[in-house]
Formats: sequence, structure tokens, C-alpha cells
Amino acid sequence: MEFATRNPLDAEFWDERFGKGFTPWNRGAVPQNLQHYVQTLTANLQAPSPVCLIPGCGHAYELDFLIKSGWQVSAIDFSSAAVATAQALFPNHTNAIVQADFFDYRPASGLNCIYERAFFCALPAERRASVVRRWAELLPRDGLIFGFFFVDEDASKRPKGPPFRISSAQLSALMEEQFERIEDAEVSDSLAVFEGKERWQIWRRR
Ligand SMILES: C[S@@+](CC[C@H](N)C(=O)[O-])C[C@H]1O[C@@H](n2cnc3c(N)ncnc32)[C@H](O)[C@@H]1O
Repeated sequence: MEFATRNPLDAEFWDERFGKGFTPWNRGAVPQNLQHYVQTLTANLQAPSPVCLIPGCGHAYELDFLIKSGWQVSAIDFSSAAVATAQALFPNHTNAIVQADFFDYRPASGLNCIYERAFFCALPAERRASVVRRWAELLPRDGLIFGFFFVDEDASKRPKGPPFRISSAQLSALMEEQFERIEDAEVSDSLAVFEGKERWQIWRRR
């Protein structure tokens, strides 16, 4: 398939791919690790009621799942085509799916968690520190980032993306000043594009 846009920092890059139906990152369902995690949290009655943001939500299947699980959730994407796709899939949640740039977005109410999937790895390496800074600004102490990270120890040998790979050492170096990793697990239902390199991780705001 031919594309006119090349820069994943531009919304037009994503608009073009959603417009042409080229979305190889789209799971089309809720990943198993997320399902298990939410079931565990729901069983723990002492857990605070989750107020969650999904940055770069794409099709937003997880939004529907989390809302049905009783969570307060907002999903944002700066691509108008992504937002239109998600709103068409989930017409009951159109108000929760907002066109916004993650770096400018101000949530209406305080968050205590952020769900990550294929947003962090969609951005080139030079943008990563800004993402981590914004995660830290958006979350209070003990707030959580949970989700999927595209980790490859040979990341520097494959700079092309998206998805952009990060080594575990690079990820730790970026995160550990503001966040503590409290879970790191294998993923058994990865799509081909992430196969063998996807980790389910939970990071807690220090
Ligand atoms: C690879 S897709 C992943 C979509 C979704 N998270 C998923 O797992 O299917 C990356 C998404 O991030 C969005 N995105 C990239 N930069 C963004 C930004 N600065 N603010 C909001 N969304 C952004 C893109 O428009 C795209 O929908």
C-alpha cells in the first residue's frame, strides 16, 4: 500500500492509515492481560475506583470494556479518523472518545490510572521523555500506568517504526525517576506486529 505521509508525529499520518483501513496494530478485542488485571482489581474491594485515561486510543475496544467494568474512562486520539472510527464502533460512548493531543489534554477530573497500548511505541525515541513527563504530570502519587510495552534488547539495531522498539534498560532509565515497576509479565496473545516483544507492565507513580 502507498502512503503520502511519513511522520507519525503528525495526525495526518494516522488519519491516512485509518482512512485506508491499514491498522495492523488493531487487536479488535480486549487483550487477555488487561482482562485478567481488571478482574483482579474488581475482586479487590479495597482498590480505589479507577479513573482512567487511554491516550492514543485508536479503535478503543478497551474503553468499552473498562466502562462496562464500572470504570470512569476517557479515550483520546489526535487523529480525527481514529476518533470517528472509535465513535462509530461504540456509539454509546461518543462523549468519552475525544479528539485531543495527549501533550495538551487536560482531564476533566483527576486520574488515578492510565492505560497504555501501542501509543508509546507509536512515537519516535526523541518524544519518549515528553510522554513520560506528561504521564507523571497527569498521575498522583501511587497512580498507575498499566498496559503493553514493545520491548526489544536489540532496539538500537532497528530504529525504524512505528512501532518503535525500546530496550528494557532504556525504558527503565526513562521511567524510574518518577515510576516504580511493580509488574512485568509475558503476553501470550500478541498480534504479529508485536509478537515476542510485547510485555505487560504496571508502573506506580512515586
Ligand atoms: C499504533 S496506534 C494504537 C491505537 C490503540 N492504542 C491500539 O492499541 O489499537 C497509535 C495511536 O496513537 C495516536 N496518537 C499518536 N500521537 C498522538 C498524540 N500526540 N495525541 C493523541 N493521540 C496520538 C494515533 O493517532 C493512533 O491512533
